[in-house]
Amino acid sequence: MDTFSKQTMETYVASFEQVLADYFETLRIRPEILSKSMRYSLENGGKRLRPVLMFATAQMLGGKIVDVARLALALEMIHTYSLIHDDLPAMDNDDYRRGKLSNHKVFGEGQAILAGDALLNEAYSICLAECRKGRTYLAAAEQICRNAGAFGMVAGQAADLFYQGMTEQAGKTEAEFIVLNKTAKMIVSAVTVPVIVYDTDENIVALLAEFGKNLGFLFQITDDMLDVNGDFNKLGKTIGKDAAEDKLSFVRLHGIDSCAQMADRYRDLCLQILNELPFESTFLAALTVSVRNREA
Ligand code: IPE
Ligand code: IPE
Ligand code: MG
Ligand code: MG
Ligand code: MG
Repeated sequence: MDTFSKQTMETYVASFEQVLADYFETLRIRPEILSKSMRYSLENGGKRLRPVLMFATAQMLGGKIVDVARLALALEMIHTYSLIHDDLPAMDNDDYRRGKLSNHKVFGEGQAILAGDALLNEAYSICLAECRKGRTYLAAAEQICRNAGAFGMVAGQAADLFYQGMTEQAGKTEAEFIVLNKTAKMIVSAVTVPVIVYDTDENIVALLAEFGKNLGFLFQITDDMLDVNGDFNKLGKTIGKDAAEDKLSFVRLHGIDSCAQMADRYRDLCLQILNELPFESTFLAALTVSVRNREA
């Protein structure tokens, strides 16, 4: 990433950390263990990709971070709950996340389930409160919730789990369903919430949705590749788990070399879509390239 994009990225991350700090400032969650386990997973270590995408898209459209700050918080809470549950022994059984022990390793499985539940419910409360701002916020909140649930992330996670150990019986269609739902739709939410909030032209909404979908595929393919050739110290999570758990990943289906080529194609497709937009999209382009080249 060039210096300017790096600085922009740092500004977005810092803005999000402030939104998060303000949220915890105004609330006193009890019992203490619930507060601690929510904060443990939410406060440190995440890349904040989804909030960064939302802020960058809002600014690209001429809007302000504050316009979408609470919706970005809701989306990152849903993402964090999905990671806490994803790491549970009943799902991927991962001991490390964001460079630290997984939530259930510190607080126990029961508390980890509840921390996830609390984050999800809080995210919905925040979305509902945002709906008071009017029709466009209602539509944006609806989009976040739909893409996170039975027609999005949860459906993808259910399919991911269902096809685990069945890699001989399932193929490309199933793997694409998994990636589209478990990962891409949350990223679609990140980049389409601002266009929905600002009631932008439908063609722009469609282009950004397409950008988000392709970026989501790029993001998950690089995640699957890093699970093979990544570095624990950079990634903050255990390597080799997809093979050990016999996951229907893109790497499993296509091999790592084909995945690298597919990732290049998804990157180029994302850049092409950005070029079609009538806005200055240098930062989003730099971010796309950095997702392709990421080590964390
Ligand atoms: C991990 O997401 C789960 C996937 C969709 C691959 P991130 O890699 O964005 O996780 P954090 O938020 O940075 O920890
Ligand atoms: C999980 O995909 C995506 C979620 C919706 C949580 P992975 O299971 O590959 O994510 P990591 O590798 O554990 O972060
Ligand atoms: Mg998983
Ligand atoms: Mg996992
Ligand atoms: Mg993974």
